[in-house]
Amino acid sequence: MAAKQQVECVKEGNYIRVPKGLVNVIVDETKISGVDPKGEATIYRGYTIEDIGEHASFYEATHLILYGRLPCDEELKEIKAKIDKYRGMVPEKIFDALKYVPATHPMYYGIYGVSLLGQYYAPDWRFDEDFLYDHALRVTAQLPVIFAAGWHLARNGTFYRPDPTKDHAWDVLRMIIGREPSEIEARAFESTLVLYMDHGFNASTFTVRVIASTLSDLYSAIAGGIAALKGPLHGGANEKAMEMFLEAQQKAEAKGVPLYEYIEEYIKEKLAKKEKIMGFGHRIYKLHDPRTDVAKKYVEKLKNGDYWMKVIKKAEEVMWNEKKIPANIDLYTGVLYYQLDIPIPMYTPIFAMGRVVGWSAHYIEQVLNNKLIRPTEKYVGPTGLKYVPLEERCKK
Ligand SMILES: CC(C)(COP(=O)(O)OP(=O)(O)OC[C@H]1O[C@@H](n2cnc3c(N)ncnc32)[C@H](O)[C@@H]1OP(=O)(O)O)[C@@H](O)C(=O)NCCC(=O)NCCS
Repeated sequence: MAAKQQVECVKEGNYIRVPKGLVNVIVDETKISGVDPKGEATIYRGYTIEDIGEHASFYEATHLILYGRLPCDEELKEIKAKIDKYRGMVPEKIFDALKYVPATHPMYYGIYGVSLLGQYYAPDWRFDEDFLYDHALRVTAQLPVIFAAGWHLARNGTFYRPDPTKDHAWDVLRMIIGREPSEIEARAFESTLVLYMDHGFNASTFTVRVIASTLSDLYSAIAGGIAALKGPLHGGANEKAMEMFLEAQQKAEAKGVPLYEYIEEYIKEKLAKKEKIMGFGHRIYKLHDPRTDVAKKYVEKLKNGDYWMKVIKKAEEVMWNEKKIPANIDLYTGVLYYQLDIPIPMYTPIFAMGRVVGWSAHYIEQVLNNKLIRPTEKYVGPTGLKYVPLEERCKK
């Protein structure tokens, strides 16, 4: 009975009590992305996520998510020109500030870096569409620069400056890894940014919409989105999946066997201890995560692709036989980012570098048709207590 109450909405007088965690609760409509009515695919503005992930450039997908349609020639030139220009316009004082932060998890650089950006742009915040879309492109272009600069500045006191003459994904990857990526590396990276771009009312997007609904500015809302994504129940699984593979690899080496042979034993041991295997399972995709099909094509083509595909395939086989749970996108992006020489703590920031587009689109959708999001609570604490002065309250 208790379990049933958790999944049903219950009328309580004038109020509706919804399940904890808002599980299965539809809170609003959106035209940006979501699961199709048959529950079979995630849709980006009418297209399947895997179709856009496989074929669209970062600029095309950004145009689609923000404006609702794939761009034509002139529109594509315009969005590319703006994103590339804005990437080179992060205020110098923000780099100065990032020199003095401790070398902790880089998600913090996003939270305060984007708040600092807001101090430049947001005091005179407005809600006309041109202004909103322009700032959506600014934050999309500048957030990756802040993450990459923060990572290097906190560790080496120096960083790689953006090059507005280069393609966004290529340039961002270069700023992270500190070398010029090959064409296939840049495209693999770009495709993951597109796959991460949006995903319905997930926790960080909902956070952004709540902040937007108070009519706060976009930068403050994005800072909130990054803070929500940082939590281990949301972003972070790509980091954990790769850490798991590396731990297993060490153990395999100690035993003198290849990882793809040892991974079965490793996973079974973890499952026997009731531990979760990172990079597996999804709230929506119970049989297959279609985003993995796109990421797989790049893992195969990148450094040690055959080796990593053998490891992934074996892990998938074991998890399916043992638990009937499929791999999710984070298993693949974890390996793919490792193949690109990206430091593991930067994996979740990269998720944010893609998702910032979705957050911005949701911010705009919310403020242009706004209603303050303010649920109510059921107070279950004590009542009727009376204030007692300190000397009497604490008498021994
Ligand atoms: C993503 C996730 C939170 C989905 O959660 P969910 O839909 O609420 O599913 P649940 O957590 O209720 O799991 C249902 C069952 O499958 C098991 N399960 C789910 N994911 C599992 C995993 N990765 N490893 C082992 N068991 C798993 C749960 O333990 C639970 O088993 P039980 O019924 O015996 O208790 C969950 O699969 C998970 O934590 N995965 C690992 C983290 C991850 O990769 N996240 C990225 C998602 S894109």
